[in-house]
Amino acid sequence: MKFFIDTANLSQIKEAEALGILDGVTTNPSLMAKEGITGEKNIKNHYKEICKIVTGHVSAEVIATDYEGMIREGKELAALDPLIVVKVPMTKEGIKAIKYFTKQGIKTNCTLVFSVGQALLAAKAGATYVSPFLGRLDDVATDGLNLIAEIRLVYDNYNYQTQILAASIRHTMHIVDCAKIGADVITAPLSAMEGLFNHPLTDLGLKKFLEDYNKLNS
Ligand code: G3P
Repeated sequence: MKFFIDTANLSQIKEAEALGILDGVTTNPSLMAKEGITGEKNIKNHYKEICKIVTGHVSAEVIATDYEGMIREGKELAALDPLIVVKVPMTKEGIKAIKYFTKQGIKTNCTLVFSVGQALLAAKAGATYVSPFLGRLDDVATDGLNLIAEIRLVYDNYNYQTQILAASIRHTMHIVDCAKIGADVITAPLSAMEGLFNHPLTDLGLKKFLEDYNKLNS
């Protein structure tokens, strides 16, 4: 399973990259705004900075919601760096745009997916990634993990190559559960990834090893 970091924060991207387990980055307009990155030029430059840090795919989201606008923006984003994947919302216009980008050889990430039917459309349009938002479903008392499992089943039924990119991950156990279900990719905040490292028995065991070593070697 690939690990993407879900942030536009350069320090956190560098920190995750340094861990040696990072496969890519996802961003969205909210994450860009959180970092105070505004204006088309600054946003594009920020994507270029992100692409210098990592070696995997970087999702860059279009702002336009009409077909022509998405095509224009998507082409501009894709031209910034070969690592860029154009992130397109799950709408009729978005699916048409994904089909267009697929034909042009431009990689896409279909975002804001909340149902199996939407994921099926994304796969039929040839999306590189589909992003079901599991945390936001959990927020409205709907089982987000079940959606990932159902998309896995449908994609496997037809051998769709679209990768399931589990998004809106809120905590470490979401990552583990996505791995059990067979998500191809998770995108998570750094804190959720770092949680995977932790176990009190690891800390206790290491303390004991060092104490025993020091008893005989000091
Ligand atoms: O990748 C999508 C993600 O950024 C949404 O996360 O926590 O805002 O639901 P969240």
